[in-house]
Amino acid sequence: KPAKVVLGIESSCDETAAALVTSERVILAQAIASQEAEHAPYGGVVPEIAARAHAERIAPLIEQVLREADVSLAQCDAIAATAGPGLIGGVMVGLVSAKALAMASDKPLIAINHLEGHALSPRLADASLQFPYALLLVSGGHCQILEVSGPGQYRRLATTIDDALGEAFDKSAKVLGLGYPGGPALERLALAGDPQAVPLPRPLMSKPEPHFSFAGLKSAVLRAHESGSYKDADIAASFQQAAVDCIRDRLTRALAQMPEVTALVVAGGVAANAVVRSALESLAQQRGLPFIAPPMALCTDNAAMIAWAGLERLALGHAGDPLDFVARPRWPL
Ligand code: KG4
Ligand code: ZN
Repeated sequence: KPAKVVLGIESSCDETAAALVTSERVILAQAIASQEAEHAPYGGVVPEIAARAHAERIAPLIEQVLREADVSLAQCDAIAATAGPGLIGGVMVGLVSAKALAMASDKPLIAINHLEGHALSPRLADASLQFPYALLLVSGGHCQILEVSGPGQYRRLATTIDDALGEAFDKSAKVLGLGYPGGPALERLALAGDPQAVPLPRPLMSKPEPHFSFAGLKSAVLRAHESGSYKDADIAASFQQAAVDCIRDRLTRALAQMPEVTALVVAGGVAANAVVRSALESLAQQRGLPFIAPPMALCTDNAAMIAWAGLERLALGHAGDPLDFVARPRWPL
């Protein structure tokens, strides 16, 4: 059976991305344009600026990956694009581009749920990863625990009732004057701090349902900072410790509800955090599960994961989605 090739397009937040991926897990080419510099002055992603930047960049990026891989649209088996959830202006740019290419080349369009892209990306990196697996998805926009049993087969055990974990890192970093996005800077500052120095809450800890909440933790960081009684490095380290304690507790409870899983997997930008990673690694070890973290470039928003999700759907015999598929700002898995 010859390998299939899918063009993937991602534009749901602040990265414009295109990639060509094969069913044999080869990323033939990928390109990504970050809008971090455009949004940094505002301390967060501005939807209108994002949509305009996606519109400017998407066509040249797609051209670039086709050229780099020396693949024509005629040689692609399908065009997969994020169709939601996300900032709707950006999602529309990527989805409409994919529709135009699909129409012009007479190839199927595959409308991908961005969360499904994250959920299946570990299988692009690791051919041995079998369903079902437990997934902690932690980024600036998402904070969920999922049991992944196959494409389209997800059981969500937990979500956040307020902020996502990456959002909590970013907001706490902002309080400490660390700029945007603040997660990596907060992690660096925490290296010089004492994780026990500042008493901070662990929201929802030991509640039976494994949901997350980080708004109270972020407010406590603000109060600790304003009190003037603590060093910034101690606040950063204590925040990170509190967040990791919450994750460990919530994940322990969720894992008890999915005895069938073969691995513990993490995805999303916060997977870059070494303290979070080592906590997950030790939790997996305690449960006798392998711990899998895809390479960082696949953890954060990218188009290879969207192409891969398209390939997983093709492999199940999916023939494509209608060209009137509407972009969805909200789209739970
Ligand atoms: O997956 P991602 O690139 O974009 C989406 O939000 O979809 O994730 C970005 C998030 C930001 O909130 C960023 O602060 C956080 O991931 N992040 C980190 C670290 N690196 C990135 N948070 C904590 N520690 C890090 N080292
Ligand atoms: Zn994402």
